[in-house]
Amino acid sequence: MSKQKNDLVSRTIRLLNQQRELFGDFDVSSDKNEEALSSSPAKEIPPEKTDSAKSVDSVQEPKPAYSAQNKQPQLTESDLIAKCDSLEELRALCEATEVLKTDLPNTNLVFGIGNPDADLMIVGEAPGFNEDRQGEPFVGQAGKLLDKIMAAISFNRDQIYIANILKHRPPDNRDPKPEERKRSLPYLLRQIELVNPKLILCVGRISATTLLAKDASLKSMRQKFHEFHGRELMVTYHPAALLRNPQWKRPCWEDVQKLRSRYDELDGKP
Ligand code: URA
Repeated sequence: MSKQKNDLVSRTIRLLNQQRELFGDFDVSSDKNEEALSSSPAKEIPPEKTDSAKSVDSVQEPKPAYSAQNKQPQLTESDLIAKCDSLEELRALCEATEVLKTDLPNTNLVFGIGNPDADLMIVGEAPGFNEDRQGEPFVGQAGKLLDKIMAAISFNRDQIYIANILKHRPPDNRDPKPEERKRSLPYLLRQIELVNPKLILCVGRISATTLLAKDASLKSMRQKFHEFHGRELMVTYHPAALLRNPQWKRPCWEDVQKLRSRYDELDGKP
């Protein structure tokens, strides 16, 4: 190979290598191959300042969207959540992430269940023992009461969608910590977007104060429809609280009657 050709090949390979460093992998000969291409060892020749070389030189820092090691785009957690276009994708992301876990080891993901097109979504607090074992929200005693409350206003589980603020069980069924709620919230918000319900029913204070982002008593939040990201949200007692305080069943009944009327007004399916 003539010296001129040799120089050109070396310069081209060097340029391509520079670009690969910054923008990711593509098919280019390695340094070893570079030597093999040349009949004599390549000399260090300063690359010509072509337009592309200038722009590469002028980049001080690698673009933050790319990692220097694996050359893959580095998506943030919010990017990953936003990229989920279905509940299945979101579930897979929730399975893969550690951030949704509590300090109780070896828990199962309790993602959510029901009609993915539901116009009514119920949001509880966190999975308990039975929910953790079965990977499904509200399957224990409180869940049975929730089913009865829903049946009383002519809903069955197949018509609604049920999820919790936390997707993993906290130890000893303690209240979810503020930081756990904060870490879980973006996943739940995406889940709500994907289900796209007309109405949300928060059962219990933890659920309501987390979604409404305010500290208020349950009593002060019930019996009205709150605006929530372009939807309507209602608050009532948690079924576990009703099991301990049966005197709250009556006000809960009033809440869910109101919820059903609004659902019908909004032409909720079916
Ligand atoms: N309590 C909740 O808030 N959620 C469940 O899934 C079970 C009990």
